[in-house]
Amino acid sequence: MIHFWTRLAKPEDRDSISALNDAAFGGLDESRIIRQLQADGDSLLSLVAENDAGLAGHIEFFRILIDGQPVGAGLGPMSAKPCLQKSGIGSYLIRTGLEELEDLGETIVFVLGHGTYYPKFGFEAETAGPFKAPWSGPHFMAIRLAPGAPASGALTYPSSFSG
Ligand SMILES: CC(C)(COP(=O)(O)OP(=O)(O)OC[C@H]1O[C@@H](n2cnc3c(N)ncnc32)[C@H](O)[C@@H]1OP(=O)(O)O)[C@@H](O)C(=O)NCCC(=O)NCCS
Repeated sequence: MIHFWTRLAKPEDRDSISALNDAAFGGLDESRIIRQLQADGDSLLSLVAENDAGLAGHIEFFRILIDGQPVGAGLGPMSAKPCLQKSGIGSYLIRTGLEELEDLGETIVFVLGHGTYYPKFGFEAETAGPFKAPWSGPHFMAIRLAPGAPASGALTYPSSFSG
């Protein structure tokens, strides 16, 4: 059991968040996406997990348009420090982030990710299925946070994901 806490990311965390993502993903793509999401105003929520040694995890949520309306959210990228993975940091960040988004009035969150990991938190491919998106299949999932959530529509992702 490791000790960590979570908080909103601050502007001065930017370089540490990039370094964490580069280490977790083994490349620069995700840190570029995160920086561009934030620069373009597409970030909805950016949370970090921290311990006495510094940043231990990070999760990003961003705006997705549904039929042109700003009513959808996306999860990602997310990462845990390689030496601390599989100790609950990622799970805690997902659960905390979903609660925060619900409090902010968000009703649906999409993710493209590991098909065995995200269902633990309520994400389902069936929920994402009726939406027209750049991707589809078992790795594309969604979770409804409120009864009035859109059930279908065309998704527009931030330009950050277009490379
Ligand atoms: C994915 C990631 C964020 C999960 O964070 P974490 O703190 O290690 O995860 P947790 O400790 O909360 O959860 C661990 C569980 O997730 C599972 N898991 C971790 N990585 C996984 C993967 N790539 N595929 C499937 N399951 C995975 C573990 O097997 C473990 O399962 P268990 O609880 O049944 O034993 C982290 O492993 C990471 O940074 N990976 C590299 C970057 C990445 O792939 N990000 C996600 C992109 S979709």
